[in-house]
Amino acid sequence: MVVDTRLFHWEYEPPPVEHEVFRVEGGVPLRGEVAISGAKNAALKLLAAATLTGERCRFTNVPEIEDVRVMVETLRDLGVVVDHPAPNVYEVASGDVEWLFVPLEAAAKMRASFILLGPLLARFGQVIMSNPGGDRIGRRPVNLHVDAMRALGAEIDYRNGYYFARAPGRLRGGEIRFPNVTVMGTENAMLAATLAEGHTVIRPAAREPEVDDLIAMLQKMGAEVERTAPDTIEIQGRRRLRGAEHSVVPDRIETGTFVIAAAVTGGEVILQGAPCDDLGAFLEVVTRMGVQVACGRDSIEVRGAPRGSGEYRACDVETAPYPGFATDLQPPTSVLLTQASGRSRLHETIFEDRLEWLSELARMGAALDVIDSHHATIDGPSRLHAATVEIGDLRAGASLILAALAADGTTTIHGAHHVRRGYENIEGKFVGLGARIERLAEGTVTAPA
Ligand code: UD1
Repeated sequence: MVVDTRLFHWEYEPPPVEHEVFRVEGGVPLRGEVAISGAKNAALKLLAAATLTGERCRFTNVPEIEDVRVMVETLRDLGVVVDHPAPNVYEVASGDVEWLFVPLEAAAKMRASFILLGPLLARFGQVIMSNPGGDRIGRRPVNLHVDAMRALGAEIDYRNGYYFARAPGRLRGGEIRFPNVTVMGTENAMLAATLAEGHTVIRPAAREPEVDDLIAMLQKMGAEVERTAPDTIEIQGRRRLRGAEHSVVPDRIETGTFVIAAAVTGGEVILQGAPCDDLGAFLEVVTRMGVQVACGRDSIEVRGAPRGSGEYRACDVETAPYPGFATDLQPPTSVLLTQASGRSRLHETIFEDRLEWLSELARMGAALDVIDSHHATIDGPSRLHAATVEIGDLRAGASLILAALAADGTTTIHGAHHVRRGYENIEGKFVGLGARIERLAEGTVTAPA
């Protein structure tokens, strides 16, 4: 296939973003019950896994979020039939994939579209994928995904921001050794290996619950894939896989976000369908800080200390791959640390841009010091106050809502669309707990003085 990808760049115009703001009146202790949605980080990979077979796959408990919409749109552009017969239910039939090309437009909207590399390459023998970071190498690279495909016999060239991947004949099973734990790298390798010839060993394999959810789906599809040790996944490739049905695991990151919401507002909240077992390291930190948490069979009950009481204790938090403290829960937890007495230290070990949003939290009155891209200290307790702040990414966005719920006054948060990427109906869920929050079109809000 000869394609001049420069044309794609010339033609590419970023799609218009519907700019929205959240307006949050803080100070209300949250009370009541909230239902936890399916996990974003599982659903996206499950939808991609459906392209490994021409038969129909059906998914339930899929979160209705922007990232799922982008993945569905990307699949449809490839010629995959995706039906949405009811809320949270998606059916995928990949009999006729016409267009083995994931363009910059899809990759720019969502880095996770790169998860299509493994399944499309394994099933169709070729694919052209945009580099999700464009030509920017460095932050959130995909080199480990590419190396894994090469270890399975793929030939991959990189030109003009695109990976041209081919598998002459069929992919061949092999040893995949990652230099560090990578969640999507593990998943991409595993998806590709299910249709490769022979045996594949992935080590160290990510241990996140969403990876195991993907393994469960692949097994239903007839794949021979198994976690043979905590950090090892082994796959015996099959010639074809079949359709299957699967319910997405609950979202542990959304769960953690609501735990913090209850804690920082001094509320009492029951999280229904919450995966207590997947939140060990996080729940250990919040209980050590003094949040009361009771795990039921299928729920978590959270009771916070009165807002502003200073009853929470400072705590040092260091992120790590699962089963360690999730990097996605570090920003929400930072909001709780502002309410704790004493100095807390943050060590973000996974990503280099996860502390940048703290400058927005400081504008709301948090006393913090960002030492470098991986370390910060937070002193507390601080009385947070309203401000006009800007969301830079998904997890920071949810965390600014938490800060606004705990703050005095009405906070305006720009960039609400980032939060819609990963949280289903977040303002509706907060309103159901008594919060005063609304989402408005940009331009309809006057910033508070
Ligand atoms: C996934 C999650 C994200 C979570 C992260 C870590 C999805 C869609 N996203 O992201 O929410 O925060 O796991 O738990 O599931 N790296 C490389 N080269 C690569 C790939 C990764 O150097 O090719 C580095 C990353 O920059 C990072 C580390 O490896 O420092 C781990 O990242 P990884 O686990 O791959 O994150 P994602 O799978 O992208």
